[in-house]
Amino acid sequence: MKLNIAVLAGDGIGPEIMEQGVAVLSAVAQKFGHEVTYKEALCGAHAIDEVGDPFPEETYQICEAADAVLFASVGDPKFDNNPSAKVRPEQGLLAMRKKLGLYANIRPVETFDCLVHKSPLKDELVRGADFVCIRELTGGMYFGKKQEPAVNADGIEDALDTNYYSRPEVERILRVGYQYARQRRKHLTVVDKANVLASSRLWRKVAQEMMGQYPDVTTDFMYVDNAAMRMIQDPRFFDVIVTENTFGDILTDEGSCITGSMGLLPSASTGSSTPVFEPIHGSWPQGKGLNIANPLAQILSVAMLFEYFDLKQEGALIREAVNASLDQNVRTPEIQVEGGAKYGTKEVGAWIVEYILNS
Ligand code: IPM
Ligand code: MG
Repeated sequence: MKLNIAVLAGDGIGPEIMEQGVAVLSAVAQKFGHEVTYKEALCGAHAIDEVGDPFPEETYQICEAADAVLFASVGDPKFDNNPSAKVRPEQGLLAMRKKLGLYANIRPVETFDCLVHKSPLKDELVRGADFVCIRELTGGMYFGKKQEPAVNADGIEDALDTNYYSRPEVERILRVGYQYARQRRKHLTVVDKANVLASSRLWRKVAQEMMGQYPDVTTDFMYVDNAAMRMIQDPRFFDVIVTENTFGDILTDEGSCITGSMGLLPSASTGSSTPVFEPIHGSWPQGKGLNIANPLAQILSVAMLFEYFDLKQEGALIREAVNASLDQNVRTPEIQVEGGAKYGTKEVGAWIVEYILNS
């Protein structure tokens, strides 16, 4: 297969983990005879510094023309504590989602047995937890009508975000939820706040109408506050969760840490144009340049990329290599066992590349 990949390394540890992601992608391509070309493009704080825009038009064109985007992370502390900054790196991410029509964000939460002890939850609760959160990504409060903080006619400073959803937006993301549920344990949980929010009542209404079309899938409904609690009390309850943008943002951070391995979780965003594959973690500026960042989430994002194109063996080989590296304690410092040897970002990546080429 011929694949044209847009490479958006971004900020912080992004370039370091991306280097390993690309090395793994190339190794798999070599092994299976795929022809891959790469085009690097600017995004995030880096792009603001260079061209004044966190998602420049040129980057958009490169993404639009590619078969897939491999994305690392954006963000820089110099913007975090400055609410009046005119442009911020995160706007680049939002612009990318909107312009590429990436309405479905797929965030699997998988546990790795050898890392369960790192979870803040008890072993017996977490072991075997395995669910996918399907987060709506181009609607809701993130993109609804806004008013930035300003003094109103009554002399009071106020601000506004609108949690807008339309029926077609809800229907298309629920369909993605059902497709995933059908391929898994056939259990879909629709997470909303229908006891309070009108937009959630639309979600629930549409879901109740659609569930009859998927009689093989058990659909249940859960308020978001209850879902946040259930995820801690009984994470194995969940198979596929589908929810709106803001709830999905919050729940996926919660989900990622219960497995004890935030640095290991990849994600995919799909929609009307080029799909994007990226780790769920951020740019970790404190780790930049130290060769200590865990490259596994980026590498597993490459597995998701191959699987998206139905290249299942390629994805499986990457997963096997990642599991082997964990089993053999070839790990970055934050997950290394006590007394274990020291491996950096580069060393873990190189070990996985070797494994792939020699298998
Ligand atoms: C995420 C992130 C982003 C979001 C930020 C960086 C804008 O938290 O992908 O979950 O809120 O969507
Ligand atoms: Mg988030």
